[in-house]
Amino acid sequence: MGTIEVVLGDITRQRVDIIVTAANESLLGGGGVDGAIHRAAGPGLAEAGARLAPVEPGKAVATPAFGLAPVKHVIHAVGPVWEDGAHGEDEVLLSCYVESILLAEDLRADSIAFPAIATGVHGFPVDRAARIAALAVRSMRIIDEVRLVAFDQETCDALTRSLAEPIVE
Ligand code: APR
Repeated sequence: MGTIEVVLGDITRQRVDIIVTAANESLLGGGGVDGAIHRAAGPGLAEAGARLAPVEPGKAVATPAFGLAPVKHVIHAVGPVWEDGAHGEDEVLLSCYVESILLAEDLRADSIAFPAIATGVHGFPVDRAARIAALAVRSMRIIDEVRLVAFDQETCDALTRSLAEPIVE
């Protein structure tokens, strides 16, 4: 059984095999966590991403991590843009986590760090996103170590609460 932990901090500082970024369809980088990861990785990340783009919402692709070493790979997951919750946003967000975990397993990763995908620029409500993140990572416990990285206290608390909720079968 692996561990799942919530960490408050900067995802680019995590020493894990794989860092997930909250990308956009072009994979060219943007603001928020994606901007921070691209800055830390260097220009190779956008060059590698451009070769795999476009990527639809709910999908994820992997590239090398370039300047983020010892991180081995960056997984670029494209989250949903929040409209009102009735446009498949939950399913698309869940798919981001599931696809990322499946890719990480293919890459034989022992550890992975996720940001709170879609909760920034994309406007997904934090509590609802945290429940989906917790559901996904608890249902797929093959990777030894999963870190859910929150950049602010509200997100940290929401993730912690969601992981503490009983699993509904
Ligand atoms: N480490 C961890 N989390 C971070 C960091 C960081 N260095 N920087 C920002 N975050 C957090 C935000 O506070 C938010 O909780 O990541 C979460 C996701 O926010 P965004 O980065 O805005 O991602 P998202 O809502 O999925 O929007 C994606 O924004 O930057 C563009 O290219 C990106 O178009 C895409 C869109």
